[in-house]
Amino acid sequence: MPGTFITVEGIDGCGKSTQLSILARKLREQGIDVVETVEPGGTLAGREIRAILLDPRQHALNARTELLLYFASRAQNCAEVIAPALARGATVLCDRFTDSTIVYQGAGRGVDEATIRQLHQIACGSLYPDLTLLIDIDLETSLARALARNAENATRETRLEEESHAFFERVRDGYQRLARAEPERVQVIDGRASIEVVAERIWSVVTHR
Ligand code: TMP
Repeated sequence: MPGTFITVEGIDGCGKSTQLSILARKLREQGIDVVETVEPGGTLAGREIRAILLDPRQHALNARTELLLYFASRAQNCAEVIAPALARGATVLCDRFTDSTIVYQGAGRGVDEATIRQLHQIACGSLYPDLTLLIDIDLETSLARALARNAENATRETRLEEESHAFFERVRDGYQRLARAEPERVQVIDGRASIEVVAERIWSVVTHR
């Protein structure tokens, strides 16, 4: 694929969506063709799947159903948005991707990582990010930001945020493990600074590439 595929990852409230928008703007200022997308979501079908996944009324959602829904959203996003954009040479910025499944459903819920990788193959083929920006913040800041965000907006995307502190600890540890396993692809950005400082850190990693 002639394009560049960049994903942004991190625990809830790490600031990744804000940073993705800033990065998109800076790249566009350089004349680069940028496509922004999000997981779950990114397409009409993906947004409907997202509504199910994050709806706090879905208490009974089975771990396997959840896993397949994330990959259903991703399969559509790959086919409809990501692969065509990469094929025409664009830079794709994706807010979360399969690394999120590896850490939330894998490390968090205990789903076997080999199963997740098999599903990735089915849903996305050999589409993997060229670069992953992992924005790292501590758990206390993460949970406080996520709660503040929920109090502010009425989207009610709170199902995951009702998980325990121990769940998010496993998720954060899962991200650290991924970064250690693939240090070239997964670049850890210290997210405990102002938006501007974090954006500068990201810009220096991206331009270095
Ligand atoms: P967001 O708040 O970053 O938009 O992500 C929505 C939630 O979905 C977040 O709590 C993480 C969760 N998630 C998973 O559990 N597995 C996945 O594969 C993805 C993409 C997201």
